[in-house]
Amino acid sequence: MTVVTQEIPLVDLKAQYATIRDEVRQAIDEVLDSMQLTIGPNVRAFDKEWAEYCGTTHAIGVGSGTDALQLAIRACGISSGDEVITVSHTFFATVEAIVYANARPILVDVDERSMLMDIASVASRITPRTKAIIPVHLYGRTVDLKPLRQLTQDRGITIIEDAAQAHGALLDDGKKAGTGGRVNCFSFYCSKNLGAYGEAGSITTNDERLADDLRALREHGQSTRYYHPIVGYNARLDEIQAAILRIKLRRLDEWNARRQTIAARYNRQLAGLDVITPEIPSGGRHVFYCYAIRVPGGRRDALRAYLAERGIGTQIHYPVPIHMQEAAQFLGYRKGDLPVTEKVAGEVLSLPMFAELNDAQIDRVATSVTEFMRKKA
Ligand SMILES: Cc1ncc(COP(=O)(O)O)c(C=O)c1O
Repeated sequence: MTVVTQEIPLVDLKAQYATIRDEVRQAIDEVLDSMQLTIGPNVRAFDKEWAEYCGTTHAIGVGSGTDALQLAIRACGISSGDEVITVSHTFFATVEAIVYANARPILVDVDERSMLMDIASVASRITPRTKAIIPVHLYGRTVDLKPLRQLTQDRGITIIEDAAQAHGALLDDGKKAGTGGRVNCFSFYCSKNLGAYGEAGSITTNDERLADDLRALREHGQSTRYYHPIVGYNARLDEIQAAILRIKLRRLDEWNARRQTIAARYNRQLAGLDVITPEIPSGGRHVFYCYAIRVPGGRRDALRAYLAERGIGTQIHYPVPIHMQEAAQFLGYRKGDLPVTEKVAGEVLSLPMFAELNDAQIDRVATSVTEFMRKKA
């Protein structure tokens, strides 16, 4: 008799949808009945609710996290010849957005334990051309912004948070991600802790003038309809996505709390193995968009294959650091330039993580990892 074991995907969007299906379908129906499809009541309400949730005076809903970064960089006046410091251990869009502005991305290494921006490396790369620093709260863990503020103070350098993976995570000052920079960027890509059912993003800020500029920039630079003081973009958030995000936002804290519980259970079960489990910083600093372990000794890919054979989905976030990407060759980096980044790229492995993951599933994943790691290398 064949035993059919249910697959455990990396992320199970269907499981979440099952919990909100009726509400979502009703909200979509209401938008379609109104036929108000672009910026309308839901976008305006979501902008207000997201700003309130994050603790800023403004949020500007846009078409994606990439739009958020692109518009934020542009609104801060960053352009040709300017340098923007960020990490190489991130999703490609962080750096893409800098390139869109014709600015130069300066890529720095990460701290090995947190896998986040290494502040000493940032300090060593600041020049008179540095206009902004983009800390990336990778995997849902927030970068310490206090030392970054000390570095940027009185130097006219803007901090722009890439909080695409950190909805609801707390910063070192106890406030939410999205309040730490002059402008801050979120993605609501479908798999995110707060994910749309299509593309969406947002920019948060307390700067009224920037907020007005960003609202114009998301709609072709128009101030009032068909009057365009500046050249902007088509970067609107649509009504259906905003309506869905409003429903999901009401559950975000509960979902994040479950993610933290799952991470703690994984950490307990994987303790003592030859894998490096993620730290769980106190004070809500990590909301576990990804639960990324590190597998030293060149065994990561074999573990991944072993888990795949057992129906367990995993992912590598990210296999090729940005400075080693083909598209980034023009930046002139070479292998060995960012040793910690290169090392962790060869070791990281994200295990299944979503709020609906049950204890039996977590235990099955952990048991499979244990079985593999206890086998002779
Ligand atoms: C760190 C980071 N920055 C930027 C983005 C870009 O967001 P989007 O895919 O919504 O354009 C993402 C999305 O995955 C991300 O993870």
